[in-house]
Amino acid sequence: MVAALRPGRRHLLAAAATVAGALPAQATEGLRSIAARHGVTYGCAVQADWLQTDAVYAAAIAREAAALVPEGGAKWWDLRPAEGRFDFSALDAITGFAAKHGQVVRGHTLVWHAAMRPWTEAALEAGPARARRELEAHLDGVLGHAAGSIRDWDVANEAVADPWNSTELLKDSPWLRALGPAYLDLAFRLARARDLGLTLTYNDYGCEHDTPHDAEKRRRVLALVRGMLDRGVPIDAVGLQGHLHRDAAFSAPALASFVRSLRDLGLAVLITELDVIEPPEPSDPAPRDAAAAAITHAFVSTVLEAGGRAVLTWGITDPYSWANTEPAMARADGLPGRPLPLDAGFRPKPMWHALARAFAGQPWP
Ligand code: G3I
Repeated sequence: MVAALRPGRRHLLAAAATVAGALPAQATEGLRSIAARHGVTYGCAVQADWLQTDAVYAAAIAREAAALVPEGGAKWWDLRPAEGRFDFSALDAITGFAAKHGQVVRGHTLVWHAAMRPWTEAALEAGPARARRELEAHLDGVLGHAAGSIRDWDVANEAVADPWNSTELLKDSPWLRALGPAYLDLAFRLARARDLGLTLTYNDYGCEHDTPHDAEKRRRVLALVRGMLDRGVPIDAVGLQGHLHRDAAFSAPALASFVRSLRDLGLAVLITELDVIEPPEPSDPAPRDAAAAAITHAFVSTVLEAGGRAVLTWGITDPYSWANTEPAMARADGLPGRPLPLDAGFRPKPMWHALARAFAGQPWP
Protein backbone atom coordinates (compact mmCIF):
# COMPACT_ATOMS: atom_id res chain seq x y z
CA MET A 1 0.00 0.00 0.00
CA VAL A 2 2.65 2.51 1.03
CA ALA A 3 4.69 1.57 -2.05
CA ALA A 4 1.78 2.72 -4.22
CA LEU A 5 1.83 6.21 -2.71
CA ARG A 6 3.51 9.09 -4.44
CA PRO A 7 6.84 10.08 -2.82
CA GLY A 8 5.41 13.31 -1.37
CA ARG A 9 2.61 11.38 0.38
CA ARG A 10 5.07 8.85 1.76
CA HIS A 11 7.11 11.73 3.15
CA LEU A 12 4.05 13.09 4.98
CA LEU A 13 3.34 9.70 6.55
CA ALA A 14 6.96 9.38 7.64
CA ALA A 15 6.83 12.83 9.19
CA ALA A 16 3.63 11.99 11.07
CA ALA A 17 5.19 8.80 12.44
CA THR A 18 8.26 10.74 13.60
CA VAL A 19 6.07 13.29 15.36
CA ALA A 20 4.03 10.65 17.18
CA GLY A 21 7.17 8.76 18.20
CA ALA A 22 8.91 11.86 19.52
CA LEU A 23 6.16 13.10 21.83
CA PRO A 24 5.75 11.78 25.34
CA ALA A 25 2.24 11.11 26.61
CA GLN A 26 2.21 14.06 29.01
CA ALA A 27 2.63 16.52 26.11
CA THR A 28 -0.61 15.63 24.33
CA GLU A 29 -2.19 18.78 25.72
CA GLY A 30 -0.17 21.82 24.76
CA LEU A 31 0.49 24.95 26.79
CA ARG A 32 -1.81 26.86 24.43
CA SER A 33 -4.95 25.13 25.67
CA ILE A 34 -3.83 25.01 29.30
CA ALA A 35 -3.20 28.76 29.17
CA ALA A 36 -6.45 29.47 27.32
CA ARG A 37 -8.47 27.70 30.03
CA HIS A 38 -7.17 30.31 32.45
CA GLY A 39 -7.63 33.35 30.21
CA VAL A 40 -3.95 33.54 29.25
CA THR A 41 -2.46 33.54 25.74
CA TYR A 42 0.71 31.47 25.43
CA GLY A 43 2.93 31.63 22.38
CA CYS A 44 6.52 31.54 21.21
CA ALA A 45 9.02 32.87 18.70
CA VAL A 46 9.42 30.84 15.52
CA GLN A 47 11.73 30.72 12.52
CA ALA A 48 10.17 30.20 9.09
CA ASP A 49 12.85 27.84 7.78
CA TRP A 50 12.44 25.41 10.69
CA LEU A 51 8.65 25.44 10.26
CA GLN A 52 9.22 24.43 6.65
CA THR A 53 11.96 21.84 7.15
CA ASP A 54 11.46 20.24 10.58
CA ALA A 55 8.12 18.43 10.92
CA VAL A 56 8.63 17.64 14.62
CA TYR A 57 9.34 21.30 15.35
CA ALA A 58 6.28 22.37 13.33
CA ALA A 59 4.05 19.89 15.18
CA ALA A 60 5.33 21.14 18.55
CA ILE A 61 4.62 24.76 17.56
CA ALA A 62 1.11 23.83 16.39
CA ARG A 63 0.40 21.96 19.63
CA GLU A 64 1.96 24.36 22.16
CA ALA A 65 1.45 27.90 20.85
CA ALA A 66 -1.63 30.08 20.37
CA ALA A 67 0.51 33.06 19.36
CA LEU A 68 3.61 33.26 17.16
CA VAL A 69 6.22 35.97 16.80
CA PRO A 70 8.88 35.86 14.08
CA GLU A 71 12.29 35.54 15.75
CA GLY A 72 13.58 36.81 12.42
CA GLY A 73 11.48 37.53 9.36
CA ALA A 74 9.88 40.83 10.37
CA LYS A 75 13.06 42.79 11.09
CA TRP A 76 14.48 45.29 8.60
CA TRP A 77 17.28 42.81 7.87
CA ASP A 78 14.77 40.29 6.56
CA LEU A 79 12.06 42.55 5.12
CA ARG A 80 14.36 45.05 3.39
CA PRO A 81 17.27 43.11 1.85
CA ALA A 82 18.00 45.88 -0.67
CA GLU A 83 17.02 49.46 -1.26
CA GLY A 84 13.51 49.73 -2.69
CA ARG A 85 12.78 46.03 -2.25
CA PHE A 86 10.64 44.14 0.27
CA ASP A 87 10.95 40.42 0.98
CA PHE A 88 7.94 39.00 2.80
CA SER A 89 8.74 35.34 2.19
CA ALA A 90 9.68 34.36 5.77
CA LEU A 91 6.91 36.47 7.29
CA ASP A 92 4.32 35.00 4.92
CA ALA A 93 5.44 31.46 5.78
CA ILE A 94 4.85 32.25 9.46
CA THR A 95 1.49 33.99 9.02
CA GLY A 96 0.40 31.16 6.68
CA PHE A 97 1.31 28.54 9.28
CA ALA A 98 -0.51 30.54 11.96
CA ALA A 99 -3.67 30.84 9.87
CA LYS A 100 -3.67 27.08 9.34
CA HIS A 101 -3.31 26.38 13.06
CA GLY A 102 -5.62 29.04 14.49
CA GLN A 103 -2.77 31.12 15.91
CA VAL A 104 -2.34 34.89 16.10
CA VAL A 105 0.93 36.58 15.11
CA ARG A 106 2.75 39.46 16.79
CA GLY A 107 5.03 41.61 14.64
CA HIS A 108 8.64 42.17 15.77
CA THR A 109 9.92 44.81 15.13
CA LEU A 110 9.38 48.05 13.20
CA VAL A 111 12.09 50.26 14.71
CA TRP A 112 15.24 48.82 16.30
CA HIS A 113 18.89 49.90 16.44
CA ALA A 114 19.97 46.46 15.17
CA ALA A 115 19.29 44.02 12.31
CA MET A 116 19.50 46.51 9.45
CA ARG A 117 21.42 46.06 6.21
CA PRO A 118 24.26 48.48 5.37
CA TRP A 119 22.02 50.27 2.82
CA THR A 120 19.52 51.11 5.59
CA GLU A 121 22.20 52.40 7.93
CA ALA A 122 23.57 54.56 5.09
CA ALA A 123 20.07 55.88 4.34
CA LEU A 124 19.60 56.86 7.98
CA GLU A 125 22.95 58.66 7.94
CA ALA A 126 21.83 60.70 4.92
CA GLY A 127 19.80 63.05 7.09
CA PRO A 128 16.38 63.38 8.73
CA ALA A 129 14.32 63.81 5.56
CA ARG A 130 15.67 60.60 4.02
CA ALA A 131 15.30 58.73 7.34
CA ARG A 132 11.68 59.78 7.66
CA ARG A 133 10.97 58.79 4.04
CA GLU A 134 12.42 55.32 4.68
CA LEU A 135 10.44 54.91 7.89
CA GLU A 136 7.20 55.92 6.17
CA ALA A 137 7.89 53.61 3.22
CA HIS A 138 8.62 50.77 5.64
CA LEU A 139 5.40 51.29 7.57
CA ASP A 140 3.39 51.61 4.35
CA GLY A 141 4.87 48.41 2.92
CA VAL A 142 4.94 46.24 6.03
CA LEU A 143 1.75 47.30 7.81
CA GLY A 144 -0.11 47.24 4.50
CA HIS A 145 1.14 43.78 3.60
CA ALA A 146 0.42 42.31 7.03
CA ALA A 147 -2.81 44.17 7.80
CA GLY A 148 -4.89 41.02 7.60
CA SER A 149 -2.53 38.79 9.57
CA ILE A 150 -0.74 40.85 12.25
CA ARG A 151 -2.69 43.13 14.56
CA ASP A 152 -0.04 43.68 17.28
CA TRP A 153 3.37 45.16 16.49
CA ASP A 154 6.47 45.89 18.50
CA VAL A 155 6.70 49.40 17.07
CA ALA A 156 9.94 50.05 18.92
CA ASN A 157 12.36 47.62 20.52
CA GLU A 158 15.09 48.24 23.12
CA ALA A 159 15.18 52.02 22.75
CA VAL A 160 15.91 52.76 26.42
CA ALA A 161 19.59 53.07 27.38
CA ASP A 162 21.24 50.48 29.63
CA PRO A 163 22.05 51.90 33.06
CA TRP A 164 25.42 50.12 33.18
CA ASN A 165 26.81 52.16 30.27
CA SER A 166 24.69 55.29 29.96
CA THR A 167 22.98 57.91 32.06
CA GLU A 168 20.76 58.95 29.13
CA LEU A 169 17.12 57.92 28.73
CA LEU A 170 17.55 56.70 25.14
CA LYS A 171 20.14 54.30 23.75
CA ASP A 172 22.40 55.41 20.93
CA SER A 173 20.83 54.24 17.67
CA PRO A 174 20.90 55.11 13.98
CA TRP A 175 17.27 56.24 14.42
CA LEU A 176 18.15 58.54 17.32
CA ARG A 177 21.07 60.01 15.37
CA ALA A 178 18.88 60.53 12.28
CA LEU A 179 15.67 61.85 13.80
CA GLY A 180 16.47 62.89 17.36
CA PRO A 181 14.67 61.71 20.52
CA ALA A 182 11.27 62.29 18.89
CA TYR A 183 11.83 59.28 16.60
CA LEU A 184 9.84 57.04 18.93
CA ASP A 185 6.84 59.37 19.06
CA LEU A 186 7.01 59.61 15.29
CA ALA A 187 7.09 55.84 14.75
CA PHE A 188 4.08 55.26 17.00
CA ARG A 189 2.12 58.15 15.46
CA LEU A 190 2.86 57.02 11.91
CA ALA A 191 1.88 53.43 12.73
CA ARG A 192 -1.43 54.50 14.26
CA ALA A 193 -2.16 56.80 11.34
CA ARG A 194 -1.77 53.87 8.95
CA ASP A 195 -3.99 51.45 10.86
CA LEU A 196 -6.22 52.64 13.69
CA GLY A 197 -6.89 49.13 14.99
CA LEU A 198 -3.33 47.93 15.60
CA THR A 199 -2.05 47.27 19.11
CA LEU A 200 1.14 49.33 19.34
CA THR A 201 3.73 47.94 21.73
CA TYR A 202 7.02 49.15 23.22
CA ASN A 203 9.30 46.18 23.94
CA ASP A 204 12.41 46.03 26.12
CA TYR A 205 14.69 43.90 28.31
CA GLY A 206 16.44 44.41 31.61
CA CYS A 207 13.36 45.18 33.75
CA GLU A 208 12.93 41.72 35.31
CA HIS A 209 15.34 41.36 38.21
CA ASP A 210 15.91 42.85 41.63
CA THR A 211 19.19 44.59 40.84
CA PRO A 212 20.06 48.30 40.82
CA HIS A 213 20.42 48.22 37.02
CA ASP A 214 17.02 46.62 36.50
CA ALA A 215 15.40 49.02 38.97
CA GLU A 216 16.85 51.96 37.03
CA LYS A 217 15.77 50.42 33.70
CA ARG A 218 12.22 50.06 35.04
CA ARG A 219 12.32 53.71 36.06
CA ARG A 220 13.49 54.74 32.58
CA VAL A 221 10.90 52.63 30.74
CA LEU A 222 8.17 54.11 32.92
CA ALA A 223 9.50 57.61 32.27
CA LEU A 224 9.55 56.93 28.53
CA VAL A 225 6.00 55.65 28.25
CA ARG A 226 4.62 58.26 30.68
CA GLY A 227 6.21 60.95 28.53
CA MET A 228 4.73 59.45 25.39
CA LEU A 229 1.27 59.30 26.92
CA ASP A 230 1.60 62.90 28.19
CA ARG A 231 2.42 63.97 24.63
CA GLY A 232 -0.62 62.12 23.29
CA VAL A 233 1.45 59.47 21.53
CA PRO A 234 -0.58 56.35 20.74
CA ILE A 235 0.91 53.44 22.70
CA ASP A 236 -1.15 50.48 23.89
CA ALA A 237 1.21 47.99 25.50
CA VAL A 238 4.61 47.32 27.00
CA GLY A 239 6.40 44.05 26.30
CA LEU A 240 8.73 42.73 28.98
CA GLN A 241 11.15 40.50 27.12
CA GLY A 242 11.92 38.24 30.07
CA HIS A 243 15.39 37.01 29.15
CA LEU A 244 15.85 35.85 32.73
CA HIS A 245 19.26 35.36 34.27
CA ARG A 246 18.86 32.15 36.17
CA ASP A 247 20.63 33.10 39.39
CA ALA A 248 19.98 36.86 39.40
CA ALA A 249 17.97 38.29 42.28
CA PHE A 250 14.22 38.42 41.81
CA SER A 251 11.63 40.36 43.80
CA ALA A 252 7.95 39.74 43.14
CA PRO A 253 6.87 42.99 44.88
CA ALA A 254 9.32 45.13 42.86
CA LEU A 255 8.24 43.61 39.55
CA ALA A 256 4.54 43.64 40.45
CA SER A 257 4.72 47.31 41.36
CA PHE A 258 6.28 48.08 37.95
CA VAL A 259 3.62 46.09 36.08
CA ARG A 260 0.85 47.74 38.08
CA SER A 261 2.31 51.20 37.32
CA LEU A 262 2.13 50.38 33.61
CA ARG A 263 -1.39 49.01 33.98
CA ASP A 264 -2.42 52.16 35.87
CA LEU A 265 -1.36 54.15 32.82
CA GLY A 266 -3.88 52.14 30.81
CA LEU A 267 -1.24 50.00 29.10
CA ALA A 268 -1.43 46.26 28.53
CA VAL A 269 1.61 44.32 29.72
CA LEU A 270 2.87 41.10 28.17
CA ILE A 271 5.90 38.86 28.35
CA THR A 272 7.41 38.72 24.89
CA GLU A 273 10.74 36.81 24.84
CA LEU A 274 10.92 34.59 27.91
CA ASP A 275 13.87 32.24 28.30
CA VAL A 276 16.42 31.44 31.00
CA ILE A 277 20.07 32.34 30.45
CA GLU A 278 22.39 30.22 32.59
CA PRO A 279 25.64 30.94 34.36
CA PRO A 280 28.46 28.43 33.64
CA GLU A 281 27.78 26.20 36.70
CA PRO A 282 26.64 23.49 37.37
CA SER A 283 26.70 21.01 34.46
CA ASP A 284 24.12 18.45 35.74
CA PRO A 285 20.79 19.14 33.94
CA ALA A 286 18.53 18.36 36.95
CA PRO A 287 19.49 21.28 39.23
CA ARG A 288 19.77 23.58 36.20
CA ASP A 289 16.24 22.74 35.08
CA ALA A 290 14.89 23.04 38.62
CA ALA A 291 16.36 26.52 39.01
CA ALA A 292 15.13 27.61 35.57
CA ALA A 293 11.61 26.37 36.38
CA ALA A 294 11.58 28.16 39.74
CA ILE A 295 12.50 31.56 38.33
CA THR A 296 10.18 31.10 35.35
CA HIS A 297 7.27 30.35 37.67
CA ALA A 298 8.06 33.31 39.96
CA PHE A 299 8.40 35.74 37.04
CA VAL A 300 5.35 34.60 35.06
CA SER A 301 3.09 34.33 38.14
CA THR A 302 4.04 37.82 39.22
CA VAL A 303 3.29 39.38 35.84
CA LEU A 304 -0.01 37.51 35.48
CA GLU A 305 -1.13 38.37 39.01
CA ALA A 306 -0.33 42.04 38.32
CA GLY A 307 -2.53 42.03 35.22
CA GLY A 308 -0.48 40.59 32.33
CA ARG A 309 -2.45 38.28 30.04
CA ALA A 310 0.02 36.98 27.40
CA VAL A 311 3.30 35.08 27.68
CA LEU A 312 5.61 34.27 24.77
CA THR A 313 8.83 32.32 25.08
CA TRP A 314 11.75 33.06 22.74
CA GLY A 315 11.51 29.72 20.99
CA ILE A 316 10.14 26.39 22.13
CA THR A 317 12.99 23.87 22.14
CA ASP A 318 16.50 24.23 23.57
CA PRO A 319 18.72 23.47 20.57
CA TYR A 320 17.06 26.15 18.40
CA SER A 321 17.39 28.88 21.05
CA TRP A 322 19.62 31.89 20.36
CA ALA A 323 21.34 30.85 23.61
CA ASN A 324 22.65 27.87 21.63
CA THR A 325 22.89 29.25 18.10
CA GLU A 326 24.66 32.53 18.92
CA PRO A 327 28.38 31.85 19.56
CA ALA A 328 28.57 34.76 22.02
CA MET A 329 26.03 33.03 24.27
CA ALA A 330 27.95 29.74 24.55
CA ARG A 331 28.55 28.32 28.05
CA ALA A 332 32.15 28.24 29.19
CA ASP A 333 31.99 24.44 29.67
CA GLY A 334 30.74 23.93 26.11
CA LEU A 335 27.52 22.22 27.24
CA PRO A 336 24.33 23.27 25.44
CA GLY A 337 22.11 25.72 27.30
CA ARG A 338 18.65 24.67 28.52
CA PRO A 339 16.66 27.92 28.25
CA LEU A 340 13.26 26.82 26.89
CA PRO A 341 10.18 24.71 27.80
CA LEU A 342 11.00 21.68 25.62
CA ASP A 343 14.27 19.74 25.53
CA ALA A 344 16.16 18.61 22.44
CA GLY A 345 13.78 15.63 22.09
CA PHE A 346 10.74 17.94 22.27
CA ARG A 347 9.92 16.59 25.75
CA PRO A 348 8.47 19.01 28.33
CA LYS A 349 11.06 20.14 30.88
CA PRO A 350 10.34 21.44 34.39
CA MET A 351 10.09 24.90 32.80
CA TRP A 352 7.10 23.68 30.74
CA HIS A 353 5.39 22.50 33.94
CA ALA A 354 6.28 25.78 35.67
CA LEU A 355 4.51 27.68 32.90
CA ALA A 356 1.47 25.39 33.08
CA ARG A 357 1.22 25.90 36.84
CA ALA A 358 1.71 29.66 36.59
CA PHE A 359 -1.06 29.88 33.98
CA ALA A 360 -3.36 27.96 36.33
CA GLY A 361 -2.46 30.16 39.30
CA GLN A 362 -0.93 27.18 41.10
CA PRO A 363 2.18 27.47 43.30
CA TRP A 364 5.51 25.97 42.31
CA PRO A 365 6.47 23.20 44.72
O1 G3I B 1 20.09 35.19 7.90
C1 G3I B 1 21.50 35.40 7.97
C2 G3I B 1 22.17 34.57 6.96
O2 G3I B 1 21.79 34.97 5.66
C3 G3I B 1 23.68 34.72 7.15
O3 G3I B 1 24.34 33.91 6.26
C4 G3I B 1 24.07 34.34 8.58
C5 G3I B 1 25.55 34.55 8.84
O4 G3I B 1 25.77 35.37 9.97
O5 G3I B 1 23.38 35.18 9.45
C6 G3I B 1 21.98 35.05 9.36
O6 G3I B 1 21.46 35.99 10.21
C7 G3I B 1 21.38 35.65 11.57
C8 G3I B 1 19.93 35.86 11.95
O7 G3I B 1 19.75 35.77 13.33
C9 G3I B 1 19.03 34.80 11.25
O8 G3I B 1 17.77 34.77 11.80
C10 G3I B 1 22.30 36.52 12.36
O9 G3I B 1 23.65 36.14 12.11
C11 G3I B 1 21.99 36.41 13.82
O10 G3I B 1 22.77 37.37 14.53
C12 G3I B 1 20.52 36.73 14.02
O11 G3I B 1 20.31 36.70 15.40
C13 G3I B 1 19.03 37.07 15.90
C14 G3I B 1 19.15 38.42 16.64
O12 G3I B 1 17.94 38.71 17.33
C15 G3I B 1 19.43 39.57 15.67
O13 G3I B 1 18.37 39.74 14.78
C16 G3I B 1 18.61 35.96 16.85
O14 G3I B 1 18.32 34.79 16.10
C17 G3I B 1 17.37 36.39 17.63
O15 G3I B 1 17.10 35.44 18.64
C18 G3I B 1 17.63 37.74 18.29
O16 G3I B 1 16.44 38.12 18.94
C19 G3I B 1 16.53 39.24 19.80
C20 G3I B 1 15.22 40.01 19.67
O17 G3I B 1 14.97 40.34 18.31
C21 G3I B 1 15.22 41.26 20.54
N1 G3I B 1 15.54 40.94 21.92
C22 G3I B 1 16.74 40.13 22.14
C23 G3I B 1 16.69 38.86 21.28
C24 G3I B 1 17.92 38.00 21.52
O18 G3I B 1 19.07 38.65 21.10
